[in-house]
Amino acid sequence: MMTEKLQQAINEQITAEMWSANLYLSMSFYLQKEGFDGFAHWMKKQSGEETEHACMMADYMIKRGGVPKVDKIDVVPQGWGSPLEVFEHVYKHECHVSELIDNLVRVASAEKDNATQDFLWGFVREQVEEEATAQSIVDKIKKAGEAGLFFMDAKLGERK
Ligand SMILES: [Fe+2]
Ligand SMILES: [Fe+2]
Repeated sequence: MMTEKLQQAINEQITAEMWSANLYLSMSFYLQKEGFDGFAHWMKKQSGEETEHACMMADYMIKRGGVPKVDKIDVVPQGWGSPLEVFEHVYKHECHVSELIDNLVRVASAEKDNATQDFLWGFVREQVEEEATAQSIVDKIKKAGEAGLFFMDAKLGERK
C-alpha cells in the first residue's frame, strides 16, 4: 500500500505525462502543417510514449493498492518557428520532466517506500535517454543546413 501523499505525487506526474503527450501532439500537428511529415511522425510517436508512461504509472499504483486518476490537462502551446526551435523546446521540456521525476523519487524516499523508489529509477534512467535523443536531434539539425533538413525529416520518419 502506498501513502496518500505518494499517491497524490504520482497522480500529479500522470497529469504531467499527459500534458507532455498533448505538447508533442501539438508539435506533431504543427510540423505536419509545415510539410515536415517525418518530424511530425516522430513527434506523434513521442506523444504516444508519454501516454504509455502515464499508463505504466497507473498500472504500478493499482498493483500497490493505490488509485490512479485522470485529471484536467492544462492547455499546451501551439505554433512554433523552425523545426530546430521545436526540437530545442523538446530538449528543454525533457530536462524539466527529469527534474519532476527526480523530485518524485525524493517523495518516495521521504515516504520510506522502497518499491516505488525502485520503480521510479526506471524513469530516471529513461530521462537520460530522452534528453540525449532530443539533444542529438538538435545538434544534427544545426549541422544539417537547408537540404540536410529534408534528409533528417525522412530519417525521423522511420521511427517505429
Ligand atoms: Fe514521460
Ligand atoms: Fe518524455
